[in-house]
Amino acid sequence: MCGIVAYIGHKQARPLILEGLKRLEYRGYDSAGIAVIDGSLNIARAVGRVSVLEEQLEGRRGFSGTIGMGHTRWATHGGVTEVNAHPHRDDRHGLAVIHNGIIENYAALKTYLQDKGHTFSSQTDTEVISMLISELYEGDLEAAVQAALREVTGAYAIAVICEKEPDTLVVARKGSPLIVGIGDGEYIVASDPSAIVAHAAQAFTLDDYNVVKITRDGFRTSNLHNAQVTLNPKIEQLEIDLAQIELGHYRHFMQKEIYEQPQALRNCCGGRLDRKEGRVVLGGLSSISKELSKLRRVVLTAQGTALHAAMIGRYLMEDLAKIPAQTEYASEFRYRNPVVEEGTAVVAVSQSGETADTLAALHEARERGAMALGVINVVGSSISRETDAGVYLRVGPEIGVASTKAFTGQVAVLTMITMFLARKRYMSADQCSDLIGEMEALPGKIERILEQDDRVRRVTEKYVERENWLFLGRGYNYPTALEGALKLKEISYIHAEGMPAAEMKHGPIALINEGMPAVFIANRGRQYEKVMSNIQEVRARKGHVIAVATEGDDRITKYAEDVLWIPDVPEPLSPMLAVVPLQLMAYHAAVLRGHDVDKPRNLAKSVTVE
Ligand code: G6P
Repeated sequence: MCGIVAYIGHKQARPLILEGLKRLEYRGYDSAGIAVIDGSLNIARAVGRVSVLEEQLEGRRGFSGTIGMGHTRWATHGGVTEVNAHPHRDDRHGLAVIHNGIIENYAALKTYLQDKGHTFSSQTDTEVISMLISELYEGDLEAAVQAALREVTGAYAIAVICEKEPDTLVVARKGSPLIVGIGDGEYIVASDPSAIVAHAAQAFTLDDYNVVKITRDGFRTSNLHNAQVTLNPKIEQLEIDLAQIELGHYRHFMQKEIYEQPQALRNCCGGRLDRKEGRVVLGGLSSISKELSKLRRVVLTAQGTALHAAMIGRYLMEDLAKIPAQTEYASEFRYRNPVVEEGTAVVAVSQSGETADTLAALHEARERGAMALGVINVVGSSISRETDAGVYLRVGPEIGVASTKAFTGQVAVLTMITMFLARKRYMSADQCSDLIGEMEALPGKIERILEQDDRVRRVTEKYVERENWLFLGRGYNYPTALEGALKLKEISYIHAEGMPAAEMKHGPIALINEGMPAVFIANRGRQYEKVMSNIQEVRARKGHVIAVATEGDDRITKYAEDVLWIPDVPEPLSPMLAVVPLQLMAYHAAVLRGHDVDKPRNLAKSVTVE
């Protein structure tokens, strides 16, 4: 949510910052801006994409300097206007700030600063930071930033430059991610590694309340009271390479990430499944192996797509490991005064590891004595650093705002955790070994589903003008139905509802009229016959049935207008296959409707505010 990038070194800052902003654009894309010190501080801002800003800068003087910073915005305080776009300058010293996060006490600070004679031009909380630093500036930018942040409550990742100190970049963080890439006599700071990796091989992540003063000769890390702090974690090699964050021959990142799922699953499960011994090896859980034997309850908490994966996790834990499990919207859990009994583990599921509500829910549960586990994709992210133990997804960077490969990765990891726990309880080595064999076959089966892509597109084309869709499933595939509906809503802006198929009779059936598309997940499983009855209820009311069904199921073709096939698979693993045609449908619907698939309106990839 909002992307920030800043540079100090010996190269021209402007092209480097614009390139970084484009890579960060998936974090927010309603407006963008850049500041460069070229003798004096110069700022350019534009409503819309980074490309609009780039056009505006063409031929413009005052932006050739070797220190600068840029921002791509997802609006929180203040509308989407040029005035509200970052960077925000002060009114006294020629300094500017870019910010990701929310300043909670901004109203009180603004009144205080107005009383001190500062004039504000935007409605943002960020401008308050620039004015506050300005108010406290006495010739030392680092000290002024520390002093200002001592007064601020809320979340921030900020970068600050000042024309009076043209060789200094100051950055700081609390609650919002920030990473410093170290090049050869140059530093590039950004919200995530994708903006850094082309220029630096090494990087370090800031901890909360860290302030880093960076010059071309080195950097100094302190806390808000100017005490020097050691880096935790230390400087590390960046583990992503450029190919992972570039489109290659794909049209969109979402499409690329759907297609990456077979390989992503291979990476996710690689070295973790021991078929011969019938066991799952999860290094991230080894330190708490004993405590896990005494586990009495699991609470899975997340938001968005990750919550749907968590819901599948719940079914898995109860079904295969016989552990009482529940799922919770993190945003509800954190304010609900939840009862956390002894022996409870809270599992935070999150692609980014930065979702504010998920982080807060985990924190809350931990305070109440729960063991904190993470199922996270981004290594070293805020949530991963708050956990006692966890298992990374290892599916590579996910850039499309609509989550796809992270979902299958999350379900795969939750399956492995369940097997790990189940082996400590009721699952025999042989049973585990059989399931491992099935897990290992999943990537090949997803490849077979992807071969039907053209067919999925043709089916989607038939219904793409329809404004209301239903997604229905039961058991393990009820959450898959929710995920199918969410994908369609997010990127094609078609209204879709997902629900347990049996719930349809309790209200939603009233919506069904002639030609309304109803997507059923009707794979072979315990509830197949029940789903078939639900399909007929829709048909009787002239709805159009699109079924996701198991290859070789002849019966379904009599009842569904269109069938998308998935290979046969044990039911607990079926969501990882059934979701793929639904992802493709949503993708094609968005393309057919002419939407910007990777940057859906109003959304951001990583929601770092409540
Ligand atoms: C946003 C994204 C979703 C994602 C959700 C949770 O809403 O648009 O794709 O599922 O946040 O994100 P997380 O990073 O915690 O998985």
